[in-house]
Amino acid sequence: MNRQYSSFRIPSPPWPPSPTRSHPPGEGGRRRVLLADSVSMTEGVGGGAPLPGGWERVGEGTGVRGFGLFLVLVALVCWGCPAADDGGGTESGSASEVAVEESTKDVHSYARPDQAAVEHLDLALEVDFERKILVGRASWQLAEGATADQLILDTRDLDIDRVTREDGDSELEVQDFTLSDEEPFLGRSLTIPITPSTTAVHVEYRSRPEAAAVQWLEPEQTAGGRHPFLFTQSQAILARTWVPCQDTPAVRFTYDATVETSPELMAVMSAENPTEKAADGVYQFRMPQAIPSYLLALAVGDLEFRSMGPQTGVYAEPAVVEPAAWEFAETEEMITATEKLYGPYRWGRFDILVLPPSFPFGGMENPRLTFATPTILAGDRSLVALVAHELAHSWSGNLVTNATWDDFWLNEGFTVYLERRIMEEVYGRPYSEMLALLGRQDLDADVEDLGPESADTHLALDLAGRDPDDGMTDIAYEKGYFLLRRIEEAAGRERFDAFLREYFDRYAFRSLTTAEFVDHLRSTLFSDAALAGEVDLDRWIYQPGVPSTASAIESEAFDRVDAQIGAWTGGTAAAGLATEGWTTHEWLHFLRGLPGEMDTDQLADLDSAFAFTDSGNSEILAAWLEHVITNGYRPAYPTLERFLTSIGRRKFLSPLYRKLAATEEGLAMAREIYARARPSYHPVAVATMDGILQ
Ligand code: BES
Ligand code: ZN
Repeated sequence: MNRQYSSFRIPSPPWPPSPTRSHPPGEGGRRRVLLADSVSMTEGVGGGAPLPGGWERVGEGTGVRGFGLFLVLVALVCWGCPAADDGGGTESGSASEVAVEESTKDVHSYARPDQAAVEHLDLALEVDFERKILVGRASWQLAEGATADQLILDTRDLDIDRVTREDGDSELEVQDFTLSDEEPFLGRSLTIPITPSTTAVHVEYRSRPEAAAVQWLEPEQTAGGRHPFLFTQSQAILARTWVPCQDTPAVRFTYDATVETSPELMAVMSAENPTEKAADGVYQFRMPQAIPSYLLALAVGDLEFRSMGPQTGVYAEPAVVEPAAWEFAETEEMITATEKLYGPYRWGRFDILVLPPSFPFGGMENPRLTFATPTILAGDRSLVALVAHELAHSWSGNLVTNATWDDFWLNEGFTVYLERRIMEEVYGRPYSEMLALLGRQDLDADVEDLGPESADTHLALDLAGRDPDDGMTDIAYEKGYFLLRRIEEAAGRERFDAFLREYFDRYAFRSLTTAEFVDHLRSTLFSDAALAGEVDLDRWIYQPGVPSTASAIESEAFDRVDAQIGAWTGGTAAAGLATEGWTTHEWLHFLRGLPGEMDTDQLADLDSAFAFTDSGNSEILAAWLEHVITNGYRPAYPTLERFLTSIGRRKFLSPLYRKLAATEEGLAMAREIYARARPSYHPVAVATMDGILQ
């Protein structure tokens, strides 16, 4: 088994106290079918010059098996709330409140919630690390008002052992359930005959070792090196690979779960969580707020909990929990800022689980327990915009949810907008404008990649026949952000904030389509014809590219960086540049602004002045490694290889493998590295890298 992650180490405390921050560190009249009753950084110092980032390489430490030197996230020196509405009661969005547009078919689900829908899940899972399977029993309570004589669930790679159903007081064996043929990424429908008196169905099943949501990690792939680890990633349509469910964001349900594992491990879910290990390894969970299936989540490992504030805390392996609690210490402040802007946080607690480095995303907004990559532990809190982002999903996404994956921008575009508003509240406007400008660069790069006329650059996507994962580009995030910013600027902040607050209230615990959002906007804020005339909504949503009316972002900080790039390309040695006080974002802008083609002397000049190759900041290192590949800078190849084999975050892997694949020599090297790294990547990352390299 692959042992590469054994090198991933985060040092233990003591962490210096942090006296201050290190830097600013549808009303459209369409017919609805109602379900049920209504429905280190130390700006690191290397060779006397400031090092961007706090990555540090260490030799083999305790428990390091396998490879020699590896990257670890280290922060050696760092400089450095109102109670939540529990969200219970009437507001928690029982499935009976959910409305589904009759015309809105989710092409990525076999389920027909307009005919028979679920509203509560009782899940029992046994975690079998030996066989890498989950042995489960999913009991689904049906919402009242089913009109069909069958309930359809989504499944993929599940072995169904037995189905029973409750008709009134009797539990009956269902012999005649059927599974359709397997379709790529959609899996198979599980059709269960029901009668008007059926109140619940019970499905006994086993997941398979290859279940795409689940990654089973060997002890060597964890920070502690002694215990196995498991985590799930259900978005977009992977929940069906570990729970038979109506796997569409248009259906919400509450859930209770029992998870049985070995006593030295803790289980956590997107639900009310334990803070201590259970002596018998059995954990009970309750999720009183109704969620869509893509927010079902489970992790099991040698976890510890550390409180950060009245409603926030971190879960992580013992070696990681202290640095993580330090890194995310401002989370409570972010919640306060968001509640002030957009209304109450309705999920009770907001905890963060820091996963092993194979987690394929930066973060995942699993309700009550955001899942996060350890690559944001920069040691200087400079990458915490990601926490703001996942927190923002507690309003945009988890509370008001995209009805289908074609409407993904309703989740992500709104969330990026909220993220930047939170960052502005907590760290100031110049800081959030740096983020916006980096976002604009990402957007332009994506439009260029996809092609300026590509339908995939529309906000309203058409993903029929495709894996929804394919539509999840920066367009939804950044074009979505720039549309909302455009509306904000046209309406004025006060009006737009009021609109957003009302929107979150009105659609709380519901799902909506892009068309419904447009109808809603037109009947509220845009009933002001002058205002509506200022924003060409159709152009933004249904046409390609970025309208020229997109807000121009200005950043004096980045202007200063540009001046230094100019000086360097004009002949000033890197060591002579004025980079003092630069934060991660300035370094990123610097790296992005460097010429594409540079010779070895130039790269060596930069590297000796700024020690990019040794950066402990994952974002800075990843940006540098792109230059390393493009320009064949060999001294950094060992670091490149270590990075690719120790981190599974897709956002870093994809551009690096893609760049490598651009030349014959690079492709050979990429394939060689990938062959070794592949077993340690999550199935989601594997699917993407297979596409790039095969
Ligand atoms: N919900 C997404 C992650 C996601 C999207 C998973 C689509 C599966 C399918 C999450 O909120 C997210 O956007 N994460 C970003 C970080 C963010 C700061 C932009 C990521 O992982 O890079
Ligand atoms: Zn997101």
